[in-house]
Amino acid sequence: MIAEASPNIALIKYWGKEVSTCDATRNLPLNPSISMTLSQAMTRVEARAQSEQGVSLVWDNKTASVADLTKVVAHVQRVCAYLHVTFQAEIPTGFAINTSNNFPHGTGLASSASAFAALTLAIVGEVMGAEPAMQLLRTDMATLSALARRGSGSAARSLSGAFVKWEREHAENLNIAWPLRDTVVIFSRAPKAVSSTDAHSALPTSPLLRGRLASLPERTRAVEAALRARDLQMLGPLIETEALEIHRVVEACSPPIHYLLPETKKFLAHVQSIPKRNFFFTIDAGPNVHVLSEANVSDELQGILQKLGLHAELWQDECGAGPRLI
Ligand code: DP6
Repeated sequence: MIAEASPNIALIKYWGKEVSTCDATRNLPLNPSISMTLSQAMTRVEARAQSEQGVSLVWDNKTASVADLTKVVAHVQRVCAYLHVTFQAEIPTGFAINTSNNFPHGTGLASSASAFAALTLAIVGEVMGAEPAMQLLRTDMATLSALARRGSGSAARSLSGAFVKWEREHAENLNIAWPLRDTVVIFSRAPKAVSSTDAHSALPTSPLLRGRLASLPERTRAVEAALRARDLQMLGPLIETEALEIHRVVEACSPPIHYLLPETKKFLAHVQSIPKRNFFFTIDAGPNVHVLSEANVSDELQGILQKLGLHAELWQDECGAGPRLI
């Protein structure tokens, strides 16, 4: 079965997880997060039952690394165990998995979110059949989300679209229809020096984490209200404060973790100096900037980059409806 899922961009970030001494894959977030699922960037996962025992994995036409294979095997086993226990489903001896992204690595789009969302759905589809799998997605997205979360936390929010809130074990579709665009300004495609998983583990060393967690409930409420009101002028400053804060918090870790490049900072400082705008930014754990807007702002962004003498590629995306089986 083939499943496709898109990455999501968080407006309120998952930044820090509960520490578990017994299970490193619980991926329970310290705070609720809210995101927008995209539609153009996509991970496609094909899972085929095979008589050969175990899991084989091809990633972008290459044999996967041992680290990726280990994560995927663990995930396939978790999903199969759930299907066996809950539906007494018969589990195939093995799976051949083939996965590819239509967007380049390192663009600032979280491929682990789309990959584990698509993998979860592809396995459910292959074991249960397409219609029962889609039925499960429609009626019990939260369960599939909780499974996907174990592969990568942010995958919890890629099982549905367009706007999803994830809190601990539970993710819900906020049922907000607002066609926002996300133009990703790509300053660098180099792999990150520190993965987001490692940043999550380092966060307890940041003296700024406690203050962030104290102020988040109010900001999260405000972001949800702005989304419901479809008010970009209300939403924009909130997501920019949030994005800059996650970087301040991680820069205060011991040792400090820096994701922003001088180009990123120059671009952000300029954008923030524009008195009235119809676009606002957010940034994940990396140097690339996501610009949210209602209208197409790529010409305007190209103009800014040119004026500042900066070179960046643009990736145009927009909100989407969540994953599908083919
Ligand atoms: C900055 O989901 O990549 O993108 O659960 O360890 O796989 P793991 O981490 P991951 O963390 C994402 C962090 C973020 C913010 C967000 O997407 O909410």
